[in-house]
Amino acid sequence: MAGGSARGGGNCPPLFTTEKPTRTAAYAYRLFASTVLAGVLLVWLYRATQLPPRSSSARARRWAWLGLSVAELWFGLYWLLTLSVRWSPVYRRTFPGRLAQRYQEEQLPMVDVFVCTADPTLEPPMLVISTVLSVMAYDYPAEKLNIYLSDDAGSIITLYALYEASEFAKYWIPFCKKYQVEPRSPAAYFAKISAPPDACDRKEWFALKELHKDLTDRVNSVVNSGKIPEVSKCEPRGFYQWSENTSFTDHPSMVQILIDGNKRKATAVDGNALPTLVYMAREKRPQEHHHFKAGSLNALIRVSSVISNSPVIMNVDCDMYSNNSGSIRDALGFFLDEEQGQDIAFVQYPQNFENVVQNDIYGNPINIVNELDHPCLDGWGGMCYYGTGCFHRREALGGRIYSLDYKEDWTRVVRKTEDVRELEGMAESLVTCTYEHNTLWGIEKGVRYGCPLEDVITGLQIQCRGWRSVYHNPARKGFLGMAPTSLGQILVQHKRWTEGFLQISLSKHSPFVLGHRKIRLGLQMGYSVCGFWALNSFPTLYYVTIPALCFLNGISLFPEVSNPWFLPFAYVVMATYSCSLVESLQCSDTVVEWWNAQRMWLFRRITSYLLAAIDTIRGILGISESGFALTAKVSDLQALDRYKKGMMEFGSFSTMFVIIAAVALLNLTCLMFGVARVLLHEESTNLGAMFLQVVLCALTVAINFPVYEALFLRKDSGRLPASVSLVSLCIVLPLCILPISL
Ligand SMILES: *[C@@H]1O[C@H](CO)[C@@H](O)[C@H](O)[C@H]1NC(C)=O
Repeated sequence: MAGGSARGGGNCPPLFTTEKPTRTAAYAYRLFASTVLAGVLLVWLYRATQLPPRSSSARARRWAWLGLSVAELWFGLYWLLTLSVRWSPVYRRTFPGRLAQRYQEEQLPMVDVFVCTADPTLEPPMLVISTVLSVMAYDYPAEKLNIYLSDDAGSIITLYALYEASEFAKYWIPFCKKYQVEPRSPAAYFAKISAPPDACDRKEWFALKELHKDLTDRVNSVVNSGKIPEVSKCEPRGFYQWSENTSFTDHPSMVQILIDGNKRKATAVDGNALPTLVYMAREKRPQEHHHFKAGSLNALIRVSSVISNSPVIMNVDCDMYSNNSGSIRDALGFFLDEEQGQDIAFVQYPQNFENVVQNDIYGNPINIVNELDHPCLDGWGGMCYYGTGCFHRREALGGRIYSLDYKEDWTRVVRKTEDVRELEGMAESLVTCTYEHNTLWGIEKGVRYGCPLEDVITGLQIQCRGWRSVYHNPARKGFLGMAPTSLGQILVQHKRWTEGFLQISLSKHSPFVLGHRKIRLGLQMGYSVCGFWALNSFPTLYYVTIPALCFLNGISLFPEVSNPWFLPFAYVVMATYSCSLVESLQCSDTVVEWWNAQRMWLFRRITSYLLAAIDTIRGILGISESGFALTAKVSDLQALDRYKKGMMEFGSFSTMFVIIAAVALLNLTCLMFGVARVLLHEESTNLGAMFLQVVLCALTVAINFPVYEALFLRKDSGRLPASVSLVSLCIVLPLCILPISL
């Protein structure tokens, strides 16, 4: 390994290990999966062979049956796809101690950290600078650490906040290092710790808390007034360069080196160096496409290439702070391992949330995804990249194809000039609107343009170029973000993702096309689990409506309890749900969280996925987007309070809520009147034939309990509005009253 360590190769202990579940566990799972597969095949066989005959008296039954067969066919196929994210999980562990032994501080590679923000109203500057401060305070040599903030709005307020943060950092970073403070986002730290810990000097601790309060007050008052104080205008060049008539969508490029780690004058109060801190706003003009976050990441790659050009790049969203000051050293264990690290392009950390409560009503603590799905993708050689909390190898992100003779130079230094003004000018010329015209940026180089979910595609493309990626999920979480805490926000977010994934799957970027012969089949399937989310919508909607309606009308669609064909149905359902419950418990979710997650699973499928599928179809047919989705509103205090009490947040009218309410009402009506009908008409012999439909209907009713609450019982402003109840009643009543002709 060039430069890094002369001891490369040979018999040094590895810097990370990979653990797999025991062989017995793996075989037990495979045996279990094959019994479920047998059940699925029998269900398909039943549907294929027992189709009701074509007769005028049972036309409705025949059609309902056919629909159900298609739904079951899809569920079975999709289940096969999901096997890929259960098959062979791997778990990674690093040894930062060995890294420290093998690499002296001055041998460590330089690291660039990219933080992106887009809108100072949605992402308040205090949130942004708390994240920036948390990454500036990483336990890493300051002269090797470079922080870049991309401000896509080009807002003077964000620059002002960052300037204030750079001043505050002179106190905050020495304080963190002196007392081993954790977490190193000052906002998170002071929110969590209300009294000085024993190790701290009381006076110092209170002085710093006061300083942080001052910072918060100053930044927030500037945010509120929209004007920066006159006195600070003479500080960084950027303030007086700002002209009155720039706007979020129309401004020149601007690069400001607020702290230059190379300059001795930029020191903290304890006399130690500070990490380099750079503000960047790329040029934006209304007539030029800016490619959203992908565009700003690519701009950051170029700007950083003339200022620090570190071989390792970490990127994080502005609402996700670092919760572990050791993460850089942790992640470097993967890249710097002489034996296994050569072909690792990126190390993805999971997404974890700070603001979720115990037994979260939205099933937000997505443990199952973090603890099982992602380790399985890793097991196939390619964790996906999801745009935040990820360490990249610059070369791989830049578009290099992996080859066996490739060796990284971890210690290269590129600083084109020592003159900061000249450097800024040079960097600015790299982020003009026209710079990327007729270049490979966004195609072969950097983050991909022109497709939804550009991060995922970028990761896939890197894997297709021969690189590997790993997933690292240490017990103490590396990054903490904010989960959406209202139903509308979650469903809208999922609709966007689902639509993006479906468009990828149907395009030439589909993992099966792009990854053909380049990545393993299991990984292609793993990507497609999300890729085909949307297609679950129609079968699920069918399953929670038609069998219930048929039950109401006395039409049986499943085998009777006494029929041997009943067994495969019962087995598949029981087996998959018990397995899912056990997995959830193993990933330290509670039963309530599991139950909540099942509800959200249903809601997402019948709303987000459905609307995503419809919008994609409209897109293909050339009809403009429906604009179905409601806009995510920032949750207010009352809503937050309701979230903490475990109440579901509806509140406004939206198509999504109408669908949810209609399905809930439909099942309730069908269950009540269907059971009444059986009892009144003493069709008790019929109940055996209806058993599975009754169970399905009853479970749908049970899981929708919070919806009935929001419809009938609650009085707060988060309940389902009357308009939603009315519209859903108008849909449900005709369906229930009109008899289905037998
Ligand atoms: C975040 O870091 C703190 C230490 O500051 C730790 O106690 C906590 O468990 C971490 N949070 C998570 C979710 O891992």
